Amino acid sequence: MAESMKGLKRTHRCTEVAKEQTGQTVTVMGWVQKSRNKGGIIFVDLRDRSGILQLIFEEADCGAENFGKAERLRSEFCVAVVGTVEERSGAVNTNLKTGEIEIRAKELRILSEAQTPPFPVEENSKTRDELRLKYRFLDLRRPDIQRNLILRSQVAASVRAFLVEEGFLEIETPMLMKSTPEGARDYLVPSRVHPGSFYALPQSPQLFKQLLMCSGYDRYFQLARCFRDEDLRADRQPEFTQIDMELSFVDIDDVIDVNERLLKKVFKEAIGLDILLPIQRMTWQEAMDRFGSDKPDTRFGMELKDVSQTVAGCGFGVFTSALENGGSVRGINAKGQAAMPRKKIDALVEFAKGFGAKGLAYLAVQEDGSFKSSFAKFMKEEELSALAEAMEGQPGDLLLFAADKNKVVWDVLGNLRLEIARKLELFDKNQFNFLWITEFPLLEWSEEQNRFVAMHHPFTMPMEEDLDKLDANPGAVRAKAYDIVLNGTELGGGSVRIFQNDIQEKMFEVLGFTKEQAREQFGFLLEAFKYGVPPHAGLAYGFDRLIMLMTGADSIREVIAFPKVKDASDLMTNAPDTVDDRQLEELGIRIGVAKEEE
Ligand code: AMO
Ligand code: AMP
Repeated sequence: MAESMKGLKRTHRCTEVAKEQTGQTVTVMGWVQKSRNKGGIIFVDLRDRSGILQLIFEEADCGAENFGKAERLRSEFCVAVVGTVEERSGAVNTNLKTGEIEIRAKELRILSEAQTPPFPVEENSKTRDELRLKYRFLDLRRPDIQRNLILRSQVAASVRAFLVEEGFLEIETPMLMKSTPEGARDYLVPSRVHPGSFYALPQSPQLFKQLLMCSGYDRYFQLARCFRDEDLRADRQPEFTQIDMELSFVDIDDVIDVNERLLKKVFKEAIGLDILLPIQRMTWQEAMDRFGSDKPDTRFGMELKDVSQTVAGCGFGVFTSALENGGSVRGINAKGQAAMPRKKIDALVEFAKGFGAKGLAYLAVQEDGSFKSSFAKFMKEEELSALAEAMEGQPGDLLLFAADKNKVVWDVLGNLRLEIARKLELFDKNQFNFLWITEFPLLEWSEEQNRFVAMHHPFTMPMEEDLDKLDANPGAVRAKAYDIVLNGTELGGGSVRIFQNDIQEKMFEVLGFTKEQAREQFGFLLEAFKYGVPPHAGLAYGFDRLIMLMTGADSIREVIAFPKVKDASDLMTNAPDTVDDRQLEELGIRIGVAKEEE
């Protein structure tokens, strides 16, 4: 039985009511968090997006009819209440913003009733994710999620304000575009008008923003929705939002400068954090050598050390054969962990294997200075001592080594370093370490495709000093690309773009495109480059990741209103789903996939 709001107007959100209004009449509207009937007196916690306010019902104040309605209140009923602000008669609740006051209700309207929800709507709920996402509309009522989305909205506003102030124009780019299968997998949209043809949803506005530079817009930005059909993780969704920008007549330092000021302003306004500028810069090579990662978490040490020189010629075949195959031997020092039980070390070995390691060698420096090691029998005492010394191993330290191709060694130790730090809680959750990674390799060899692929994208400018290597040694060419990293997460990335047709064509050639293929796929860009293209550069942040890190959430799902789960489905709306045969027919599509159960 729903009552109308007629004649009532909300005067305050719950937490906008304050002690200063004592004695005033207010009208509040929201949801019943909980209701306690103490016989003759009913306490109700009313919740809206601002927080919680206590209501108090007594028949003497509100009359029999209203009191009768108050007796029927259950969690999640949606109500309107008119009452007077009072100082709390009972104990002050210091956990609540409105903990010093209560509303003595005079009138109650039940705007709508609610079934018993499938889980309690409360902060830090332990409800399993599947249920939360199936009933996302209820889950979104939880105060912690509401705070996340409110912050998200504030940050979007603050980003816009900054960029507009800096002379950027907000311009929308198409959602339906041509498929450019370089990068992640595209989401395709069939065309009805052109049977057998498909649009792709944008993986990013990259090509369009470069075209906008060609068209003279000079400074562009967009909070752009992007789509990538890739495996999901805690910091990846199939559709996500970028703060995307592009600037003309600039080089790396200009892009970094405007973005450092953007980050400073936005973090200050959102969470009161003071970022010290300039943000540290580190080359990709240094990041890999020291942290085994191109997005290092620099809140703690345990850096990698290359011990290839030290173990060259030693008796341990695992080490020497890795070196003979052009690889390296590197280690990390888990300080004070020499007494780690065998079981835990074995778990680390398994963890390392998950990243492609063939094994993980360890050397524990005992308190008495002697060694306990998985490879002691292959090495002389002096060799072990030299190795411990190279790792700055003190009594009590556990040294862990990987021997393989550089790429594997970095990946294994980089991830092991994070795993150990997480287990031992080696970092401060409230610390924010920003870092620019620069001088990325331009290209990456793909074993799968047996060709070079662009590490960033095919429009990234090689470093001028490496241009001459593009033919003879493409793998050694560094790019004018940069990533912004925060606490081990890649927050954003960008590059200076190629704006010379000859370099762009060369780049396509190195990537294994024939001239025809390049023209077929990117002809419009190459064409635009013929009509006076300005030098340009840009960057895009993962907006969801930014909010995740600001809120301390452990997944971007907690900062997206309607996210998808690991298999890219939406548990609430049940997307993706089959469609009518008639819809398929219209599109000229016949489904060839055999149904699994058949
Ligand atoms: P890039 O591919 O590095 O660059 O993407 C930029 C940023 O977007 C975020 N991101 C994601 N966030 C959530 N889910 C995903 N699946 C996902 N994929 C990427 C990351 C990443 O740093 N056009 C270029 C930018 C440029 O060169 O200007 C681009 O898209 O935080
Ligand atoms: P094995 O002789 O194979 O029993 O290996 C001896 C030790 O070396 C074990 O602790 C293995 O886990 C470790 N090991 C094997 N392969 C590697 C590798 N590629 N890098 C580092 N350690 C390894």
